[in-house]
Amino acid sequence: MRLLTLNDFDLKGKTIFLRVDMNCPIDPNTMEISGTKRIEEATTTINAIKDSKLVVASHQGRVGNKDYTGMEKHAKVLEKLLNRKIKYVQDIIGEAAQTEIKNLKDGDILLLDNLRLCAEENYEFSPADAAKTIMVKRLEKLFDLCVLDSFPSAHRSHPSIVGFAHVLPACAGKIVEREVRKLDEIMTVAKAPHVIVLGGSKVDDRLEAIKMLIKKGRADHVLLTGLIGNVFMRAQGRIRAPLGIKREEEIVAKAHALIGEYPDVFSTPVDVAVDKDGSRVELDVRDLSREDTIYDLGPKTVDYYNKLISGAGTVFISGPPGYFEKEEFSFGTKGILEGIANSMATTIVSGGHLTSALKRYGLIDKINHISTAGGALVLYMTGETLPMIQVLEEAAQRHRSK
Ligand code: 3PG
Repeated sequence: MRLLTLNDFDLKGKTIFLRVDMNCPIDPNTMEISGTKRIEEATTTINAIKDSKLVVASHQGRVGNKDYTGMEKHAKVLEKLLNRKIKYVQDIIGEAAQTEIKNLKDGDILLLDNLRLCAEENYEFSPADAAKTIMVKRLEKLFDLCVLDSFPSAHRSHPSIVGFAHVLPACAGKIVEREVRKLDEIMTVAKAPHVIVLGGSKVDDRLEAIKMLIKKGRADHVLLTGLIGNVFMRAQGRIRAPLGIKREEEIVAKAHALIGEYPDVFSTPVDVAVDKDGSRVELDVRDLSREDTIYDLGPKTVDYYNKLISGAGTVFISGPPGYFEKEEFSFGTKGILEGIANSMATTIVSGGHLTSALKRYGLIDKINHISTAGGALVLYMTGETLPMIQVLEEAAQRHRSK
C-alpha cells in the first residue's frame, strides 16, 4: 500500500482527527436525514480506532443549499449505529470545541459541527496554504494524528482535507484504504472501449470531469441520463423549456461546446418517461411539452444504451438514470444496471443511490467495484491525483524518510 494506514501507528492514548464524509441526503420538507449509508460507512474506521481520543468531523451539504444542516442528527444516528456514546459540540474551532477536545478521555468520541460552518472550509487551498488557515492553526496542536477517510470528498482541497495532513502525521482510514487499493487494481486491467453512464445532479462538476475523461482516453462513449442528460438535450435544442437549474445558460453553453468538440462521444435519451396524473407515460423526446418533467428513461433508450454497454471493456456508472425510488420510474435504472451487471466488462458503480438500487435488484455481487464516491471517483478515473491522495502520499514519504 503506497499510503500509510491505521496499522502504521500506535493509536492508544492519541488524540486523532478523523475526517469522514457523512454528507447525507436530507428530506427538504422535514430536514431529516433520508439515507444513512454514508454514516454507516463512517463506522468502519471509527470502530477500528479504539482507546484513543477521537474527534470526528464532516461536512453536510453546501452553504445555501437545502441539504445544508448542522450535525446533531448525524450524532444521534452514529450513536445508534455504534451503540456508543457520541459527544457532540455545536462548534468547530472555537473555545467550546477546543475545551471538549482537551477534555476527551481514551475511548471517547466527539463529533464536531458541520465543517462548512467555518468559512475557510468552503474554499480550495494548496496544502501549504490550507495549513495556514485559522482552522488548522487553532486545532493542529490538539491532535497527534490526522486520519483521512472522506473518499467522496477526496477531490476537494479544503483545510480539513489537505491542511491537517500537511502538518501532522497522516494516514488513510479504512474506506480510503479499500477504495485506493481496489481502484488501483481495476485501473491496471481496465480496457477500452470505456463506456461512462452519467446521471446525477452536480452537473457543473461533471462537465469538467467529462472533458478530462475524454481527453485521457477514458471515455469512448458517454451515455447521459438524469439531469445532466436533460442539460445536453437542451444544448442540442431537443428540450426547449428551461430546466430551472442554477446558472443554467452557462452550463448549457458548456454542454453545447462539448458536443461540438466531441460529436461522436455523447448519447442522449431518445425516449423518456414523464408523470401524467400520477402515472408513467412514455414519450419520444421530440413530443415532450414544456410542462413535462422527466423521471426516467424509456425502453428504446435502455436498449440502445445496453447495446453500447455490452460491447464495452470497462463500464463506469455514476448517478441513477431515473427516479428509481418510485416503482413506476425504476425501469431505466433497473434496466441499465442489469445491462452493466451482465456485461463482460470491468464494472464500477459509484455513489450511494446506485448502491441502494443494486441491492434492491439483487445485482450487488455482479459488480467489480462499488465506490462510496461520486464526483471524486469521476475525477479519479481521469487518472488525476486527487488532493487527498496527494497529501496522504506526501505524509507517507515524510514518515518513511524519518
Ligand atoms: C459528495 O457527496 O460528492 C461529497 O460529499 C462532496 O460534496 P461536495 O460536492 O458538496 O463537495
